[in-house]
Amino acid sequence: MQNKTAPEVSRTPTQGGSQVSPMEEGPHVPVSPWQLLMLLTASVFFAELTVMGFIYELSPFSALENALFDSATLTVFLFVMIHYFMYRPLVREIHRRRRAEEALEEANRTLEEKVQERTQDLESANKSLLTEIETRKWTENELRRSEARYRLLIDTMTEGLELTDARGVITYVNQRLCEMLGYNPHEMVGRPMNAFFATHHADFFETNLKGLRECAFGHHELTWLTKDGREIYTIFSPRLLFDQESNFTGCFAVVTDITERKAMEEALRGSEKKLRFLSSRVLTAQEEERRRLARELHDELGQDLATLKLELRSLKKNLLDPAGPISEAGSKCEEMLRYIDGVIENVRRLYQDLSPTSLEDFGFTEALRWLLEDFGKHHDVDVSAELEEVSHLLSQEAQFIVYRVVQEALNNVGKHAKADRVSLQVRRSPNEITLELEDNGVGFDVEAARRKSPQVDRMGLMFMDERAWMLGGKLSIQSMPGKGARVTLSVPIQRGAGSP
Ligand SMILES: Nc1ncnc2c1ncn2[C@@H]1O[C@H](COP(=O)(O)OP(=O)(O)OP(=O)(O)O)[C@@H](O)[C@H]1O
Ligand SMILES: [Mg+2]
Repeated sequence: MQNKTAPEVSRTPTQGGSQVSPMEEGPHVPVSPWQLLMLLTASVFFAELTVMGFIYELSPFSALENALFDSATLTVFLFVMIHYFMYRPLVREIHRRRRAEEALEEANRTLEEKVQERTQDLESANKSLLTEIETRKWTENELRRSEARYRLLIDTMTEGLELTDARGVITYVNQRLCEMLGYNPHEMVGRPMNAFFATHHADFFETNLKGLRECAFGHHELTWLTKDGREIYTIFSPRLLFDQESNFTGCFAVVTDITERKAMEEALRGSEKKLRFLSSRVLTAQEEERRRLARELHDELGQDLATLKLELRSLKKNLLDPAGPISEAGSKCEEMLRYIDGVIENVRRLYQDLSPTSLEDFGFTEALRWLLEDFGKHHDVDVSAELEEVSHLLSQEAQFIVYRVVQEALNNVGKHAKADRVSLQVRRSPNEITLELEDNGVGFDVEAARRKSPQVDRMGLMFMDERAWMLGGKLSIQSMPGKGARVTLSVPIQRGAGSP
């Protein structure tokens, strides 16, 4: 465009030189009219002279006179003729042509000026066009850069994003949404958005479109189906899109994955339920414990003291009877002493059950050994213990909790296992302490027992699990019906819990 040149203007010969216009030269004839006139006059003169002298034999003077007269007459006549019929039209024509030429020159000049003006206009238009092209190029580059930035932002954002047309057909999905659902973008684009929802949301788009249009946006809890059939929970936040004539053209939506949050909420609800159950169970257990204590005090200690009282009465009677043999009183005393030993043992077991003072009296390892041996004595079971010294690796509180776990595991052996051999091992490794209680009893289906627990009358396993959890440890039980049972408790070592 820029190189579009002005049309070539022909230069007239008058400009810039002393050339003679072709008009001024006149028509190109071999002889001019005046030469012709001279020629004719001369011819007439000489022809007349000849005719008069030789044919009419006039005197030379008369012949010359006639010839002069005739030729002069002819010359005047021709002169007038030539002047009127040739020279004047010729001069008029020359003037007309000159005027035309001047007009043409003027037109040329105007044209040239116009061409120059137009050329200038074109040049400035060309310049501004070039500037505009530059600006456009810059804008396009900026747009491209900004688009790339937005695309990067969209593809790296932690939320899913999708665009749909007015029919709910997906036109764009970002990387995150593809990751959430396990699809490639080309597997999603072109398909209706509803196809990726869980079946109960299958008509979500159609059902909600009117509502969506009215409020323009909102947040919806939507369940999606992944490519491998899993359900994921999301918050779906759509925005509607309209063109310049306010026609609905589709929507874009941000999709936030809340599956983990849902699972955590579910777990929280579960543990709240469990906590409520546990706290009610703790109250019941306290009540039960008090009743058991009262029963034991009544049945055992009360009976024992009543027996002792009877024995003492009988001893008093013996001693007051002077005829009574003194040896009988002695053996009665022996019997009573043995009985009192039994009573003391019962009382000790009672308070040991209530609070394991043996832990403070003997230390953790010895308290465990005592617990095991006491169990063996009362249940007629062979016991064996391999106990490494670990008390310095557990706090007082932790020792108490571990003790309770072993106590419950032994209770279970006593209540359910029908075992005749029980062994307890305590080992330490660099990071944890492992306690293992094994019996050779009837065994049981651990999974089934865990499923049934917690129930009002089956709390032991659950309490053991809870206690292991409190210590940041782990409780595992291996058992099968007929194959005995092994309860393993692993507890992380608590550095600085005590001195070695
Ligand atoms: N060592 C074991 N040998 C055989 N069965 C066992 C053993 N330990 C547990 N069980 C089985 O697991 C079930 C659950 O034990 P859990 O301690 O939770 O309840 P429980 O002992 O019946 O009642 P609770 O401990 O609340 O007084 C028991 O009823 C028993 O059937
Ligand atoms: Mg139990």
